[in-house]
Amino acid sequence: SSQHAFIAGLPKVELHLHLEGTLEPELMFALAERNQISIPYKTTDEIRAAYKFHNLQSFLDIYYQGAGVLITEQDFFDLTWAYLEHCKQDNVIHTEVFFDPQTHTDRGISFDTVIQGIHRALEQGREELGITSKIIMCFLRHLDEDSAIETLNQALPYKDWIIGVGLDSTEIGNPPHKHEKVFAMAREHGFLTVSHAGEEGPAQNIIDTLEVLKTSRIDHGVRCADDEQLVNQLAEDRTPLTVCPLSNTALKVFEEMEEHNIVELLRKGLCVTINSDDPAYFGGYMNDNFNAVADAHAMTEQEIAQFTFNAIEASFITTAERERLR
Ligand code: HPA
Ligand code: ZN
Repeated sequence: SSQHAFIAGLPKVELHLHLEGTLEPELMFALAERNQISIPYKTTDEIRAAYKFHNLQSFLDIYYQGAGVLITEQDFFDLTWAYLEHCKQDNVIHTEVFFDPQTHTDRGISFDTVIQGIHRALEQGREELGITSKIIMCFLRHLDEDSAIETLNQALPYKDWIIGVGLDSTEIGNPPHKHEKVFAMAREHGFLTVSHAGEEGPAQNIIDTLEVLKTSRIDHGVRCADDEQLVNQLAEDRTPLTVCPLSNTALKVFEEMEEHNIVELLRKGLCVTINSDDPAYFGGYMNDNFNAVADAHAMTEQEIAQFTFNAIEASFITTAERERLR
């Protein structure tokens, strides 16, 4: 496509990014050495060769293992800072990042260590790179709700640093109802809410997520296409879907980018956005995701820019912050 230059120059807003999914093999090696942790790979090439996925679970197993090298506050700072440098490179001007506290607290790393490192990097990114940001903490849906409630309580002292809560990990077998109570508690505390739904799971999970968890956005949501009435409702309500094209092809939600439905959903008037999900694992950051969609689907520049307008509309920035992005 001849649109890569347009995409590179387009200001972008990212709304679906797992910080643990930005751990590049080089940093994984460096942190393994720094923390004296053994990993089952001898070279970064070996790590990259292991990244062949056939579904969500095959990815999650490797992704949780990779996160095991993150120990100190400095590790979480370094991870977040490296991601922000990619943002700068890709002209991402605002990002709302996920982290998975339970992945770390279950290994004996304190919530404080994780959030302090992430927050310090994001503050430095604001000052030195001009990138604004929000933090969303995700509960792991394969764990029980009591664990999520414990995590919510651990987050309360840092409420001013965390804009919202989300829900990720294994979708099939872990429906939205499982976390109904903790989402109600989070909303009571003033957290905004999002949730992964309709990635591998059925369109009904999107309906139930909006109804039961009352979320402001749906992460992924591409399987809405199986339910025409739902698609019409999402278009009418402008419910944001944070779609991750390279993630979806890597995890075989769509076999080929040509089969991806994001452009069709855009043209039906849905508030769809482009995001990188776990860029270190799925082969690219924001520009790569935009380029992959544009290479597989003929679009006008107006249509490509609409992904950014949608992301600004869907973002959790305040009215004052919104002025800066106009
Ligand atoms: N889906 C579910 N859980 C995740 C994902 C995803 O795409 N990325 C990181 N955790
Ligand atoms: Zn995700």
